[in-house]
Amino acid sequence: MNKKSPVSRSGRFAREVSADVAQFTESISFDWRLWRHDILGSMAHAEMLHKIGVLKKNELHAIIRGLDAIGKEIKAGTFKWKPELEDVHMNIEAELTRRVPTGAKLHTARSRNDQVALDVRMWLRDEITLLLGEIANLQRALVSLGEKNSDVLIPGYTHLQRAQPVYLAHHLLAYVEMLERDCERLWDCHSRVNVCPLGSGAIAGTTLPIDRELVAKLLGFIKFRTEANEENKESSLPSLSSVKNSEALLSQNSMDAVSDRDFAVEFCAAGALLAVHLSRLAEDLILWASAEFNFIKIADAYTTGSSLMPQKKNPDIAELARGKSARVIGNLVSLLTLLKGLPMTYNRDLQEDKERLFDTADTVRASTRIFSAMLRNVKINRAACERAASDPALLATDLADYLVKKGMPFRQAHHVVGAVVALAEKTGSPSRSGAKAGKPLNQLTLAELQTVDKTFGRDALGVFNLKTAMAKRNLTGAPGTKEVAKQLARWREQLS
Ligand code: ARG
Repeated sequence: MNKKSPVSRSGRFAREVSADVAQFTESISFDWRLWRHDILGSMAHAEMLHKIGVLKKNELHAIIRGLDAIGKEIKAGTFKWKPELEDVHMNIEAELTRRVPTGAKLHTARSRNDQVALDVRMWLRDEITLLLGEIANLQRALVSLGEKNSDVLIPGYTHLQRAQPVYLAHHLLAYVEMLERDCERLWDCHSRVNVCPLGSGAIAGTTLPIDRELVAKLLGFIKFRTEANEENKESSLPSLSSVKNSEALLSQNSMDAVSDRDFAVEFCAAGALLAVHLSRLAEDLILWASAEFNFIKIADAYTTGSSLMPQKKNPDIAELARGKSARVIGNLVSLLTLLKGLPMTYNRDLQEDKERLFDTADTVRASTRIFSAMLRNVKINRAACERAASDPALLATDLADYLVKKGMPFRQAHHVVGAVVALAEKTGSPSRSGAKAGKPLNQLTLAELQTVDKTFGRDALGVFNLKTAMAKRNLTGAPGTKEVAKQLARWREQLS
């Protein structure tokens, strides 16, 4: 037996690969992080091999003990990874076999092709659960900020031009809705990640009478599994009796199982959309923190200074989250490109999936997490919001609605109010520079309004009462006083 690499090259190959080939082909530098799931997968596989008579009880125990010890060393950082052993699967198996000779039986009826598919699915399943927790936290932070400032109004914008007044909470809840759809997409993706590929072998299964259901159940590939294998949890399997009655979720085609990376694409797609949502939120916060808007103040701990300009406080966290969305989008494109020309089934190209997948998971989780923290450290500048929201032009549409209520067709009302706005712009006292400053819309007199259209009555100017205006917007989904309170309460309840 070839002494250096007992795991995959023994027998067929006369020589070891050269150092540059080893360096080019290794994946241990990044796939080491699958170790926890690799070990759990091997433990379940060993349990099954024992059940079908391939491993004796003492062999099973020796393997489990060996894997457990290796896991503890990896966790403690004392395990020595060997790049010449290529990947996490071979490193762990080779070390196990070195310590426990019966480890050589562990790879019975298994290939690295179904093993890597298993490990990545298990890893991603946990990642999704952890990410969902972070998203819920971010949603809570948005709801809290809305609740704390439930009476604050700001202009809503289209084309980044002032449009109509909205409650700040309404604006924040728009993101809560987006994030909820992200959660739904991730959950949906989870249902396809949570399928056990083990038993597919390299491509065509095995002639040995293995028990796929048992392995799947031990590894939690069952309906309604929700808890994540947190990083600090011990690696251990559930007892056989506790999973006996659950329904195993098994892949149904061995060729598909070893070559399918749809689940990774789906996660990266859902992650890309989440990153884009965070990027948009980032952009709003960056604008709001500018002197021009001045709607919010981000606490010092969540801003950074400039190395040159002493007065600066920069919203770097939001900017970086916006910037990082670029690579998350790139990861999705990389994975799609990786897959598009691959013949069935497993091809080594697939090793390139991991860094992109890991990067998306790490980036979106970190961005989501830091956003919750930052939002909990944002103060709303109520005075600036009030000033901006009290711009009467924001209620120009309400004035058109007023005319509609008097029976005027909307197109005509729109035209009339347009003329009123033009009149306000040219009325008013000249400023010092001599230019006409214009008059706020709500300061036109009834007589002036009537020069544009006689339909305006005494009650016309009442339209500009912001409080009444907000009380009127009570359709489902509208930014009205009652409706926003209702939505805040709904989210508070849903997220508790
Ligand atoms: N490191 C490999 C990967 O990431 C594991 C599977 C290798 N299989 C093989 N037949 N070379 O995809």
